[in-house]
Amino acid sequence: MERTASTDLCVVKLGGSVITNKSAENEVNQANLKRVIEEIASSNKRVIIVHGGGGFGHTMAKRYKVSEGYPSSTVYGASATMNAMSELNRIVCEVMVENGLPPLSLPPHSIMTLKRRISPQALRLAEFGLKHGFVPVSYGDVYFEPKRIFSIVSGDLIAAQFAVKLRARSLVYATASPGVYTRFPPADSDKPLKEVDQATDFIATSSDVTGGMAYKVQQGLNAARNGCRCIIIDATIPGRLAEVLRGEQFTGTEVVWRKSPNPHGKLK
Ligand SMILES: Nc1ncnc2c1ncn2[C@@H]1O[C@H](COP(=O)(O)OP(=O)(O)OP(=O)(O)O)[C@@H](O)[C@H]1O
Ligand SMILES: [Mg+2]
Repeated sequence: MERTASTDLCVVKLGGSVITNKSAENEVNQANLKRVIEEIASSNKRVIIVHGGGGFGHTMAKRYKVSEGYPSSTVYGASATMNAMSELNRIVCEVMVENGLPPLSLPPHSIMTLKRRISPQALRLAEFGLKHGFVPVSYGDVYFEPKRIFSIVSGDLIAAQFAVKLRARSLVYATASPGVYTRFPPADSDKPLKEVDQATDFIATSSDVTGGMAYKVQQGLNAARNGCRCIIIDATIPGRLAEVLRGEQFTGTEVVWRKSPNPHGKLK
């Protein structure tokens, strides 16, 4: 579908692998969090921020099998996961306030419909907030659904939905890898791909229930198909996020939707 961005809006997904220590429980990476928020603030761009779960949400979600919903999981587990994510969101919002970015927090457990879509009211609220200088912030979280009562929604999906629905010019997945590799873990001599499209063959591993790099690319393709530029960068490296927000060259992988994709293979 051809569509042009109506705004200079950029959706930035801050990976839990950047702003937390993903292998520990409830441990924020303060240095990375502060730096990426500073890079966003000094870009002066209109942004929506979506953050991941990292060592907060993913740890709880795994422990209580929250993505499987009820009855494999429990209401307690779902609540504990929401609580951990609210806590991380509060910390992100605090750092935003310290850097002059006024957060408008939109928790997915309140704004997603039972069909895993951001509700029209929440989209209108985000737009209204943006118009008046707020920075909408959302995150990967629990959402409610009719069959299993609840499950997990990835911040990658929420970021792509905001980008498509609010016709953002770009969607940046800020994560802890220099881009997408053909195989993972990469060999020392491997370089990340400059571009991936819907037919690119690559192998991805995932450490959590939200599908890791493969799901990120899938969501990026959805945004790209709808006319939004999608770029995956390594935001653990100082300056990489600032660079892509300036709209100059970037170091990372662009996710491209092609009408006639390269026929070498399919996404795994
Ligand atoms: N083919 C691949 N190319 C690059 N990275 C890969 C690949 N396969 C797996 N990975 C891993 O996927 C990670 C990115 O996905 P992951 O979901 O762990 O991070 P995130 O989205 O930043 O964190 P969160 O889900 O907590 O927000 C990379 O840091 C890397 O370790
Ligand atoms: Mg992820």
